[in-house]
Amino acid sequence: SEARPLAGRKAIVTSGPTHEPIDPVRYIANRSSGKQGHAIAAALARLGAEVTLVSGPVTIADPAGVRVVRVERAEEMRDAVLAALPADVAVMVAAVADWRVASTAGNKIKKRPGEAPPPLQLAENPDILKTVGHYASRPRLVIGFAAETENVAENGRAKLQKKGADYILANDVSPATGIMGGDRNRVKLIGRDGTEEWPEMGKDDVAAKLAALIVAKLSS
Ligand code: C5P
Repeated sequence: SEARPLAGRKAIVTSGPTHEPIDPVRYIANRSSGKQGHAIAAALARLGAEVTLVSGPVTIADPAGVRVVRVERAEEMRDAVLAALPADVAVMVAAVADWRVASTAGNKIKKRPGEAPPPLQLAENPDILKTVGHYASRPRLVIGFAAETENVAENGRAKLQKKGADYILANDVSPATGIMGGDRNRVKLIGRDGTEEWPEMGKDDVAAKLAALIVAKLSS
């Protein structure tokens, strides 16, 4: 119907950071509020899509009408995303940690007087967007984000290729922009045949505009 143009469509959205444990009480992570990813999941659900939101640890509320799968680590996020396939569209918004701790300690690492700090050995995490972009049962639309502080459009175009995505929403997250953790965003939509600059708007409005694009692309 007109009000629910995504009825019968399946969407997967990732959101938030991942936490990569060092031991049972410590972790490494990226900064991410989950605001943009959650807003996109909510916007797709409002248009009738059956949405699985795979979210890392965030403090914001679950969006209405969405199935939420909570994960901590990148490997868990990858497994949850692949388990939610097939889907018509995947939007990867999570700030996934590029590295995990190579061997997580089973017990809290104790600080002992006079001992050197423990070394932190890292291992590469799976690239979830790249995996989905090249997957056998790839969604018809695969969309990623690119947070950059310089050469935003250029880096976004390179990412489109490397990740096998149809669109990359590139945003300038230089500290002066206030985008990180804030309620507003300014993105460039990078597609195979060009780049579109969107004006600065609320993260909810970015979500609504992206959802409208998804409706148009899935019905063409
Ligand atoms: O490579 P980079 O992290 O800059 O790419 C950002 C895009 O890739 C985002 O859409 C992010 O969700 C996704 N990504 C991912 N898995 C990773 C790293 C990034 O899905 N391990």
